[in-house]
Amino acid sequence: MKNTPIDRKLIDEAINSFQINDLAKATIREVKAIAAHAEQLSGVEFIKMEMGVPGLPPSEIGVQAEIEALNNGIASLYPEISGLPELKKEASNFVKAFINIDISPESCIPVTGSMQGSYASFMVCTQCDDKKDTILFIDPGFPVQKQQLIVMGEKYETFDVYNYRGKKLHDKLESFLKKGNISAIVYSNPNNPSWICLKDEELKIIGDLANQYDVIILEDLAYFAMDFRSDMSTPYQPPYQPSVANYTDNYVLMISGSKAFSYAGQRIGVTCISDKLYHRAYPGLTKRYGGGTFGSIFVQRILYALTSGTSHSAQYAMAAMLKAACAGKYNFLNDVKVYGERARKLKDIFLKNGFYLVYDNDLGDPVADGFYFTIGYPGMTSGELMKELMYYGVSAISLVTTGSNQKGLRACTSFIKDHQYAQLEERMKLFYKNNPIK
Ligand SMILES: Cc1ncc(COP(=O)(O)O)c(C=O)c1O
Repeated sequence: MKNTPIDRKLIDEAINSFQINDLAKATIREVKAIAAHAEQLSGVEFIKMEMGVPGLPPSEIGVQAEIEALNNGIASLYPEISGLPELKKEASNFVKAFINIDISPESCIPVTGSMQGSYASFMVCTQCDDKKDTILFIDPGFPVQKQQLIVMGEKYETFDVYNYRGKKLHDKLESFLKKGNISAIVYSNPNNPSWICLKDEELKIIGDLANQYDVIILEDLAYFAMDFRSDMSTPYQPPYQPSVANYTDNYVLMISGSKAFSYAGQRIGVTCISDKLYHRAYPGLTKRYGGGTFGSIFVQRILYALTSGTSHSAQYAMAAMLKAACAGKYNFLNDVKVYGERARKLKDIFLKNGFYLVYDNDLGDPVADGFYFTIGYPGMTSGELMKELMYYGVSAISLVTTGSNQKGLRACTSFIKDHQYAQLEERMKLFYKNNPIK
């Protein structure tokens, strides 16, 4: 019997008590619950790397603006579904300042987090054209977005981009688009879970194919400008956040308050639709709603039906944060750089102890240190590694749930506390000793 920091039997029982047949397929929330349960039973502190919660204080600028708005009585008023004019204006400025693209305030729409942005976008996209009823995921990806499609009863297809970076992406994407059933393509950049960042040559491929096959690109910028390899923090100056918006007009950008501004609790983000797409009519929408355009249906039909707008006070917060960022008064990236420093230290510990990075480069450049990274261990499947690490008080999610075909886990840096590096080092040394690589 191997000597492990937590009794193996205790972990096995904790897993069994959740009635999970295949740990590799457990959801983030299930892994979190198992870790919390095992921690309580064993008294051993877990190093929790499963959940992508910001874990930093919220932006003070946002909090102050929200308090002021509440003191001014806005809580009693329904917000406009299309959004607070001030926020729409600041979102338009923000995409100009940090992506260098032009989107009018009208086409920038607040949502209750990017989760709602993707839900509403999936709905409109799958309703535009009867023949195009499927969403394509460039995976690995954020598991909840597939869950959204399952909830809606809509179809999706997916592939793991691992072997299709650079020029290879073209033919792979085209093999799906040729069939004529794809309405939209979705990906995050930087990517959750792997932290790979698609480069401009890849975004151009995506944009060109979007034009050729008339599909809509849903670009999830939940980790806006958090590729810390280049400093994108100066407004109106390059380098900018790379975007498919430079290559096509068929796009929706989803910008979240949750990670870059540590504002996850208030459920706020903005969905920025290209002006051309916003004003475009589609036969499927006309048939279903009797008229309207992509943007007006998004706002006046879908958001109206879902939540009838976004929390009023949170919109004031987001407007103030974006405004301060555009004015160069608030370097939001400085506040979140700490994730990159944590990733560097954590990766170092894992790599020293037999682990390898699964998604490790962007067309030859090592991936950035950021919010997430992916690890594997020779000879272990995702499920085996996940379980084995639990015996050492380390929790992370399996790549299986993210649409990846690779063996390994996603580790999130957001919950790591300073005293845990030494703890992890000690535990991983023992792990390495107990699991000799053949
Ligand atoms: C890729 C991706 N998209 C969207 C979200 C959700 O963002 P929000 O909190 O704005 O709903 C997350 C959160 O983890 C994410 O990782």
